[in-house]
Amino acid sequence: MLFKQQALLRQKLFVLGSLAIGSLLYLVARVGSLDRLQPLCPIDGRFGPRGQDEIPLRAMQFKRGLLHEFRKGNATKEQIRLHNLVQQLPKAIIIGVRKGGTRALLEMLNLHPAVVKASQEIHFFDNDENYAKGIEWYRKKMPFSYPHQITIEKSPAYFITEEVPERIYKMNSSIKLLIIVREPTTRAISDYTQVLEGKERKNKTYYKFEKLAIDPNTCEVNTKYKAVRTSIYTKHLERWLKYFPIEQFHIVDGDRLITEPLPELQLVEKFLNLPPRISQYNLYFNATRGFYCLRFNIVFNKCLAGSKGRIHPEVDTSVITKLRRFFHPFNQKFYQITGRTFNWP
Ligand code: A3P
Repeated sequence: MLFKQQALLRQKLFVLGSLAIGSLLYLVARVGSLDRLQPLCPIDGRFGPRGQDEIPLRAMQFKRGLLHEFRKGNATKEQIRLHNLVQQLPKAIIIGVRKGGTRALLEMLNLHPAVVKASQEIHFFDNDENYAKGIEWYRKKMPFSYPHQITIEKSPAYFITEEVPERIYKMNSSIKLLIIVREPTTRAISDYTQVLEGKERKNKTYYKFEKLAIDPNTCEVNTKYKAVRTSIYTKHLERWLKYFPIEQFHIVDGDRLITEPLPELQLVEKFLNLPPRISQYNLYFNATRGFYCLRFNIVFNKCLAGSKGRIHPEVDTSVITKLRRFFHPFNQKFYQITGRTFNWP
């Protein structure tokens, strides 16, 4: 009998304990979401004379709250009008380079309270059909933001598409352009890996990287292979320079963004004339993923999708050497034009 009562008491204590922990967890989450629904403070005020190290949690929560709600379709037209939300053309575009880390860069910049990202790649300037729909169509594809925020979009195909520089120039000749690059051979292999995965998903076979990158007739680097051509950064950049001065570009080191993202992001903040607001707090290394992930606040954090950070196939070292030798003079020119030197072999 006594034993039965003790068991009952233990059971009750367990239920009560679970309830208390559950309520505590609920409260923590609720505080986060309630905070996001607080009335808005003017964004200029947020850039006032504050301690630079201060974590702009509330500011971020404001943004992520209402804007996110609206993206989900939960905010009303009245809220949009009340908060003066607008869909703005981008003030900066990540134009490339494919597999350079464009998604990571966009997501990390989006940690900044003054930045609002266009979640999808819009492909307005590189796709004739989209371009024909006009600039209003493009603007309507942009996320809602407060007037003092800046919208950023990324479409890596822009960097290599012939018509794009002129088209962007016609929209805004003073736009800021971000290019994230990685060591060209690694980037080419990453590019190949993405295509390979697509083929495998469809149960298709595909050539080995070596076969595509090296012309079997000449045994030289195959410059017709798109993954190789995309990595000749200077060739593409030269086309852009016919429309924009070099000062309007900022080159991001995609290899460093992987290992040490904060200093790279701080350089971008400076280039975009944004007050420094992204801090080490917002970035944490996730050992399972092997990459830095994003922390918005105590409740919300996220890592990039598994499609970012694929394992590359092993490539014959002689092919790697050949490719590196091939890219070398183009890299030198790229350093010279951009004023940013990398330790690429
Ligand atoms: P790999 O898949 O070759 O490793 P993009 O977004 O332009 O397609 O670039 C994808 C690359 O972003 C990945 O290439 C990965 O190395 C890099 N990357 C940089 N920072 C990352 C991060 N925090 N999480 C995941 N991938 C990241």
